[in-house]
Amino acid sequence: MPISQNTTESTPDEMITLDSIDNSTHFHEKLAKPVYIDGAWILPFVQGGKGVGATNGINAGAWAAENAAGTIAAIGAAIGYDENGRELSYTYAGRSRHKRHEEMIALSIQGCILQCHTAYKIAAGKGRIRINFLKMAGGAMRIMRGMLVGTRLPGGSNMIDAVTMGAGLPTEEDAQICADEGVFLDPIISSTMAMKVLLKRTFRKWSGRYDEVIGAVVYEDPWLAGGHNGITSRENPNEPKDPYERVKALRVIMNDNGMENVAIIMAGGVWYLRDWQSWLDNAEIGPIAFQIGTRDLLTRESPVVDEWKHLLLSMKKGDVALNKFSPTGFYSSAHYNGMIRELFERSARQVDFVSEPDDNMSERVDGPGVPARGYWVNMQDRKKIDGWIGEGFNTPLRTPDDTLVFVNPDKAREIKSHKTECVGCLVTCNLSAWSQNPEVKYTTGRLPDPRLHCIRKGLLGAIKGNDLDNQLIFAGHNAYIAGEDPFYRAENGNVFIPTVKQFIARLMTGD
Ligand SMILES: Cc1cc2nc3c(=O)[nH]c(=O)nc-3n(C[C@H](O)[C@H](O)[C@H](O)COP(=O)(O)O)c2cc1C
Repeated sequence: MPISQNTTESTPDEMITLDSIDNSTHFHEKLAKPVYIDGAWILPFVQGGKGVGATNGINAGAWAAENAAGTIAAIGAAIGYDENGRELSYTYAGRSRHKRHEEMIALSIQGCILQCHTAYKIAAGKGRIRINFLKMAGGAMRIMRGMLVGTRLPGGSNMIDAVTMGAGLPTEEDAQICADEGVFLDPIISSTMAMKVLLKRTFRKWSGRYDEVIGAVVYEDPWLAGGHNGITSRENPNEPKDPYERVKALRVIMNDNGMENVAIIMAGGVWYLRDWQSWLDNAEIGPIAFQIGTRDLLTRESPVVDEWKHLLLSMKKGDVALNKFSPTGFYSSAHYNGMIRELFERSARQVDFVSEPDDNMSERVDGPGVPARGYWVNMQDRKKIDGWIGEGFNTPLRTPDDTLVFVNPDKAREIKSHKTECVGCLVTCNLSAWSQNPEVKYTTGRLPDPRLHCIRKGLLGAIKGNDLDNQLIFAGHNAYIAGEDPFYRAENGNVFIPTVKQFIARLMTGD
């Protein structure tokens, strides 16, 4: 189906009763009530930052222009566009990972500055502009420091109102850099435990005046949000917990520490605002806004290709899989496509092994890349391996957990290329064993884990839009609602993709 250029909104054809008019009037008034975020009173809608490149200066600026909060993704920010409006790729000349890591940092700073200038211009002084960093991203602090210098404004302010930081907790140094540049630092957390650590460690210096440095706290539901998920080792990935109770507990901690006026931004699973009515004007929750990640991909300003938008509109419940294939070590949520299926299947072709045979592990495994003394497995696994070899998965690769996974030769070559082409995009990478720490000679010293994906290639492939079935399509678990939502159906049966302006007007209705 083509994407309609029709700019008129489709209207819901629901029956309106007298009761619902009364209730909904209150609800709409509450929803339109501004909330204080990052130093300004704005609408309670926040764009979820989406790397790499799925939020940028254009769509973040459009959110801000509607008096909401837009969020640029810092990591891999585009340094320019080709004649078709597609992002220019970063190119690397360095022959070592370390040299490429340095190039990546310089390019990211350049890209962030470009995207911030764009957003600042589009916002024209309205709303808030934020920029999102992953603490686990390689060189995050240096990129943040470099870009904030490049976005300074005369008089000590900045084009950017806040840095948001997730996938790891910001350090005191991160907070100090933001404070020095006159920018808020909004942590993204998924538990009260994380808030306690932040107060004790990162924001210790600001005790009693946290609101000088924290413009809002993002609570990201670790069971529902798209992208990386903060499920801790104490939590069960298969047992989602009620966000209301968790945010209520977070509010208690924040209030106990003098943060009554600091807003919480609820992220993860937010689609229709009408589902969150009971959170508004609620003393247990306090000042609240809503962050929208997946749904925001469905705007005209969103740079993702039409195929990605169509894909979202075709998703069914259960099409998004929580998985542990990110080389960061975090859980993450992505479309269960060919790439994720292959990773699950690869991990299933896995057996324990030893390097010296014993009574139990008495069966020798040979194959490409196997050391002379061989790998030894038990009889039962030997039979499974024979089956896999029969299907072409004849290459055993060692994992850091003393297991072997079996892949075909092409996949083995691809996995090897992730290491040779690594640009050090993370602080430490479990796939390539890269570490950004020179003291350990840029390596974690651990065995590379062949069960993981290359996050840089997967996300770049997604934003470039080639063969989406084999790219990393981060998505929230409520993505399936897109296809059921009448907003995205034009009257002529085509798909309707709104502008950010139309989208935010729609959010205001509660739908
Ligand atoms: C494609 C995609 C990429 C994302 N990338 C990032 C990111 O780089 N940094 C981040 O903090 N969150 C990232 N997120 C999470 C969003 O910012 C947001 O918090 C989340 O999507 C909210 O849940 P929802 O998808 O249910 O709306 C990403 C989400 C998606 C769907």
